[in-house]
Order: sequence, then C-alpha cells, then structure tokens
Amino acid sequence: MQSGKAFRWLAAAMLPVVVAFTPSPRVLAQATAYSDKPPLLLGAAWYPEQWPESRWDADLSLMEVAHIHLVRIGEFAWSAMEPSEGKYDFVWMDHAIALAARHHICVVLGTPTAAPPAWLTTKYPDTLRMDENGVRDEHGNRQQFSFASGRYRRLAHEIAEKMAERYGQNSNVVGWQLDNEYAEPSFDPEAKAQFHAWLKSKYGNIESLNNHWTTAYWSQTYDTFDEIPARQDKENPALLLDWKHFVSYTWKSYSENQITAIRPHADKRQFITTNTMGWFDGFDAYIVHSNLDIAAWDDYIGNEHYDYFDNGARHDLTRGFRNKNFWVMETQPAFVNWHRINSSLARGQVRDMAWQAIGHGADAVEYWQWRSALNGQEQYHGVLVGADGTPVPVYDEIKQVGDEFEKAGKALAETTPQSSVALINDYDSRWAIDFQRHNRDFDPVAEMVAFYKPLRNQAQGVDVISAHAPLDPYKLVVAPGLNVLPREVADHLLEYVKHGGNLVLGPRSGMKDEYDGLNVERQPGPLVDSLGGRVEQFYALEDKVSVSGDLGSGTASFWAEQLSTRSQDTQVLLRYGVSNGWLDGQPAVITHKAGTGSITYIGAWLDDDLLAKITASLLQESHVQPILPNTPDGVEVCLRSGANKSVLILINHNKAQAHIDLPHTMNDLLNGASSASVDLPAYGVAVLKANK
Ligand code: GAL
Repeated sequence: MQSGKAFRWLAAAMLPVVVAFTPSPRVLAQATAYSDKPPLLLGAAWYPEQWPESRWDADLSLMEVAHIHLVRIGEFAWSAMEPSEGKYDFVWMDHAIALAARHHICVVLGTPTAAPPAWLTTKYPDTLRMDENGVRDEHGNRQQFSFASGRYRRLAHEIAEKMAERYGQNSNVVGWQLDNEYAEPSFDPEAKAQFHAWLKSKYGNIESLNNHWTTAYWSQTYDTFDEIPARQDKENPALLLDWKHFVSYTWKSYSENQITAIRPHADKRQFITTNTMGWFDGFDAYIVHSNLDIAAWDDYIGNEHYDYFDNGARHDLTRGFRNKNFWVMETQPAFVNWHRINSSLARGQVRDMAWQAIGHGADAVEYWQWRSALNGQEQYHGVLVGADGTPVPVYDEIKQVGDEFEKAGKALAETTPQSSVALINDYDSRWAIDFQRHNRDFDPVAEMVAFYKPLRNQAQGVDVISAHAPLDPYKLVVAPGLNVLPREVADHLLEYVKHGGNLVLGPRSGMKDEYDGLNVERQPGPLVDSLGGRVEQFYALEDKVSVSGDLGSGTASFWAEQLSTRSQDTQVLLRYGVSNGWLDGQPAVITHKAGTGSITYIGAWLDDDLLAKITASLLQESHVQPILPNTPDGVEVCLRSGANKSVLILINHNKAQAHIDLPHTMNDLLNGASSASVDLPAYGVAVLKANK
C-alpha cells in the first residue's frame, strides 16, 4: 500500500542496528512500522526497567523465537522515566525500543500514571486518592492517585507529553495505552466539588435536581449543590446513578488530559487506548471509549474454570465499545496470582483462549507477563520465562500460537466478526438493579451471560452493544434487563421494531427513567402499548416456580413477573404453574407484533434449557441461521469476514476429540490440510478458508 513511505519509517527505526542484523525482508516488513506490523500480533508485557540492560537482548531473542512481535512497556515505570521532579531519563527506554525493533518487535507505550513515584506523592499528598470515609491512600501498591486531582493531571500530562515528544514519531511505537485499568474513584474534596459542579451543569438549578431525585423522601431536599454527599453505596438511587455518570465522565476527561498531551506529537497511525476489564462496571465503558481509538481489555479467567461463553461475551462486549476489532492487552500465561486458588489452565487451553480472542475480533493477544520481577507483589503469577531466565513449559504453547498467527494472519487481515443478533448491555440498568437487587441472587451480569449463551450457541455470533447503538444491522435484538428505559431509548427501540426488527425484553425491563426514578407507567413503561401487555407485579422468588407453554416447560428462579395482555392479538408463550397464588396460571412470556416487527417480553429468569428453547424459536422467527449447523456441543464456531473473504475458526473447548462436518472442502491454514470435515483433539483449533 504505502510501502515506499512505510519503508522510510522503517529505515529510520532500523538505522542504528541494520548493519549488525539483516533479517529477511518479509520479517522486517512484519515486525516494524505502523501498518506494516503483522495483522495478528502476539505480544508480552515486558518491564525492561526491572532488569539490567545486559539481560534485554536474551529476553528479546527468546520472544523473537516465540514469534512475539509486540511488547508493551512503560506502564508503572514513572520513577524510572522521571527519577526526580522535572529530571527525565529516557535513555533506557530509547535503548529498549531500539533493541525491540532489532528483534522485529513493535511497542505499545504505557503512560505510567497508574503508579506515581514516591517523590510525587510525598511532595503532593493532595494527589492521593481518598476513600468514601475520607481516608487518604498512602504511597505503595499502585492506583493511589485521585482521578480528579488537577495537580495530578498536570503531572500526568507532563510525563505523557515528554513521552510523546520523544516517541510520537518513532515508527516502532504502534500505539499508546493510557494508565492501566481505570478503577477506583476518589472522594476527596476536589472530586466532590467537581461532582457538585457536574450536577449543577446537568440540572441547572437545585429545584430540578430535588424534583428528579424525589428528595422530599426522608427530608433530603437540598438548598445548594454543595450540600450533596458523594457516595457509591447506601444512598438515594438517583444520587448513586449520577455519581456513576460523574465517575464515567471524569475517567473520560482523565483520558482526554493525556490524549491532548500525546496526540499533537504522535503520528496518526499510533492509536491511543486504555486497558479495561470485561464486565467491570465502575464506569460506563461507552462513555470512556468515546475518545479512544480502539478498545483493549485484560482477559483473565482467574482459575482453570474457563467458561468460554462468559469469556466470549466479554470479548464481544469489548468489541462493542468502539464497534470494531479490539486488542487483548493482557491475558494469563496459564495462571494468575490473585484468585482464591490460582489453578492453571490445562495444556492446550492457553492456545484455545488465544484463538477464541481472534475468533471474536481481537487483532492482538498479549501475555501478562514475560517474566516476574524478582521481588514485588506478583512473584507467583504465570509467565513465559522463569526466574532463571529460561522458558517455562507454557512458552512452547505460546510459541505455537505465534507461529499460527503468522500462518493465518494474512487471511484474517481486515476481517471482523459480523452478526445479525445483538445483546444490549446497559450500564444504567445494571447499576440500577445492583443498587436494589431485591433478590440478592439477581446478578445483572449473570443474567446477560444466561441470555448470551443460547444465542451465541445457536446463532454462532452475537454483538454486545449499547442501547444507543444503531440497530438496523440486526434481525434480533435482546435486552436482558433494560431496567432504565428513558423515552429516547424507547423511541429508538420502537423505530427498530416499526421497521421489522424483533425486540426481546428480559425481566425488570422498563421500570425506571433516566434519573433512576420509577416510570409512572407499569413495566415496560413507554413500550407497554407496542407490547400489548404489561407487568402487573414483580416477585422475588426463594423457590423455583414451574413455567410451561407450547415451547416447552421448565422453571423460573430468582424473579417472576406477573404479566397481562392488553391487546387481543398479544400471544402468551409461557404461563406460571402453581406458586404464591398471585402468579398461578398467569402469563410469564408474551409476544406481540408491532409495526412490521415484534416485541417479546420475558418476565422471569428462566432455566437454561427453557431459555434455549425460547431463543431457538425467536431466532427461527427472525430468520437467523447458524453459520455451521449441527456442530457438537463445546465446539465454538467463529466467522470473521471482510471484503470478498471470510475465515472460519473452530475451537474445540472439550476435553475430548470432536468431529465437525464442513459444508464443503476447506483449507486449514494452520496445518495445510484440505478436507470437508475436521477432527479436533481436546482444545484443538482449525482456521479454515474455503478452497477457491
Ligand atoms: C492486571 C494488571 C496487571 C497485572 C495483572 C495480573 O489486572 O493490569 O498489571 O497486575 O492484572 O493478573
């Protein structure tokens, strides 16, 4: 494409070393310089500042042998970059990046702001985070800063800017990771003042806030914004929801502060991202990603219990943050150090997980970490290289992944998963339910996963999207628990249904407005008329209730809503059996044609088998076909498509071999075999292209 230009970048990066090392042109082109980096990248988190420089070459050589073409460096290294205020040392980083380039390894630079140096927190203790009870954090560990501190932001801007001035035009630096895993907010006086200002700009005057928050309740009426407490628990749900919104926008502006330091100096081909944590709900990830170029996340299972549906849902969730391919910025080389029992993935499962990431739209998979620091809090974590500096057993498996990424990379370049089914992930609703679960077992994430599983299994592709995302690409849109349903979102959904879309709402939908206030209509609030039915009453369940209808029978747990039909053509799909008297014989699931589409309301948390029957019927009615019918249980089917090409990835998550028939002869890019069926061993993977 832009080979001439890219080559100039490349030449500049390689200049000091090119005499000493002459790699093949293919490898050279793959390993460096922006768009010339391999389409699928295997990487590792590398902390050169923790090791003598004399060791680096050995590490990078071992990486190169394992087909690792990416390292992330710099995050947590503030004290090495700025040993004392205003005195910078980037020489070590210059060397590390140049040496990585020499080994055909490109670099993501982490800004080090998740770990401020001791001189900083000692001199400026006001930058330290404060908990809800007013206790300041102390130095040590990490993430001890206040995300709202103006002073901290100035210091963070300075270090990010210094890095960008130096590396923004370095063609071996492909992108930037801001900070690390945004997590804890701060409740210090500065953060509180910003919360008050944010509320003022949202509501305009205190009467409006009092009105939307219903502060007449328990004499909470406020006279000024300054009187409002900042809390994340045990408060008026309206306050709790606005606190979450404030936190989301504060993390966004925390990013912006560093983006404005980096962007003016950085080549436009360098992306800016941060690494997030799957279902983590400390902020609204759609807000936080709105000023980032790509999404990236840290994929940890914790122990050996790899639930590939839950993990797949987290990939799809992350892909939905920017609605495009993403990176796995960290994942475990077999095991972690922070779980109750840090058991290891079985042999083969690390590779299985890597290919699952690619199947769901990742373009890079990076292991955390390359080698444990000899001391520090994470000595027991999984690594690729042991304390003795030589590979540990999982290294070979990861090397195999790297080899395979090289084999299949070209075919997978410029491809992405595509789906005609969407699952709506709505932070306001998840928070609102979590503030008042009513049944402590009603976990909104578990509910998302309960719906995701059969949909993914049957349709073999699901997008996880925000309630505000465009819905036209989808034949079926499922909102498992759209508890908060503002008029604007209801209109968006109705527009979709009017034009032929099929919408499914799960229990607790449409109960609240955007202030977390109760809708004055019964559930699902603004959708009652189009549904031709409504919720008469909700019940938290201690015991299971039987449910049955034409589609089958089973049980409801945790939650059951007594539904009613309000239109003659509303169909009842399931009814409750004998229960508390209120529910007995009443509708549990109803469906209604609306416009040229339909709305279905599922009023209970159904058991997995029954839910699978319902989703199968919904998919059929919506004309959604599986990609590869009749695949054995436990075999995951992923399709990535691009202009005039598509690649099928099959992953056998089972402990036993599986046989899969293909629609026609296909070519396995990993082993060169061409066949109309594949036999995958336990945790086996095939990456298939149609024979032309
Ligand atoms: C991540 C974190 C890494 C490392 C890892 C261990 O959450 O970003 O720095 O601590 O966990 O699993």
